[in-house]
Amino acid sequence: MGELSDPKGQKAELTGREKEAYVAGLFGEIAAPYDRLNRAISLGRDRAWRRQVVELALVGPGSWVADLGTGTGDLAFDLAAAVQPGGRVIASDLTPAMLSVAEQKLARTPVPGLSFHHANAANTGLQDSTCDAVTMGWVLRNVGERPPVYAEVLRILKPGGRFVCIDMSRPEGWFARTGFWFYRHLFMPMMARLLGGNLSAYRYLAHSTDRFPDAAALEAELRTAGFTSVRSLPLMLGSLRIHCGCRP
Ligand SMILES: C[S@@+](CC[C@H](N)C(=O)[O-])C[C@H]1O[C@@H](n2cnc3c(N)ncnc32)[C@H](O)[C@@H]1O
Repeated sequence: MGELSDPKGQKAELTGREKEAYVAGLFGEIAAPYDRLNRAISLGRDRAWRRQVVELALVGPGSWVADLGTGTGDLAFDLAAAVQPGGRVIASDLTPAMLSVAEQKLARTPVPGLSFHHANAANTGLQDSTCDAVTMGWVLRNVGERPPVYAEVLRILKPGGRFVCIDMSRPEGWFARTGFWFYRHLFMPMMARLLGGNLSAYRYLAHSTDRFPDAAALEAELRTAGFTSVRSLPLMLGSLRIHCGCRP
């Protein structure tokens, strides 16, 4: 656990392979309590937020979707329900321990068309133009570099296919911005400690939000990468945001 220790939040400045290795170690540590902590930290709202991602992905029976950074698979299960009959959800993640929780859920509750794979979001191994939609839930902030991930998403989307990602953001007003700072730097680590999670991990997650581009910058980044129809939807006073874009 020593190498994960991050009292000053400096690990959030890592990039590339170093960041990937740190992030995989971190999620490996919190895989077991991850779902429980998510529910507590989001005050039970995380399920509703994932349902919004599914709605914005505009998928239906027969659609093919890739859920990148699927973690313990909750978004992938919601997507799988939306694409039946006849659809597929190819869910992948960098961290074997997170995937193993997802696979245990799938073994308990088999869902047609859903499969889990070990893969980096920047190199999914999928063929060109495979997917009607690609989703990412709280992943973009954690990848080594974002541009290679955007390139991979555009490669695997069909023309006109949609990219929908939800992640932490920073509210615009002073009041909400200050409140959210306390939420992520005090409430989140406190809940992590109380519920048996790893304090360093939740410190990293707070600091990585501080360093993540704000809504306008992320929208500009998506347009520069080649997405069209880029827009974003604020949730929770802008402390969370769903970004959408399409492959031309
Ligand atoms: C905060 S969790 C989110 C999990 C899930 N999407 C959800 O909605 O709960 C972030 C996940 O992204 C994964 N991840 C981070 N970087 C990744 C990368 N480069 N490629 C694939 N997965 C990655 C982590 O292993 C972790 O499971």
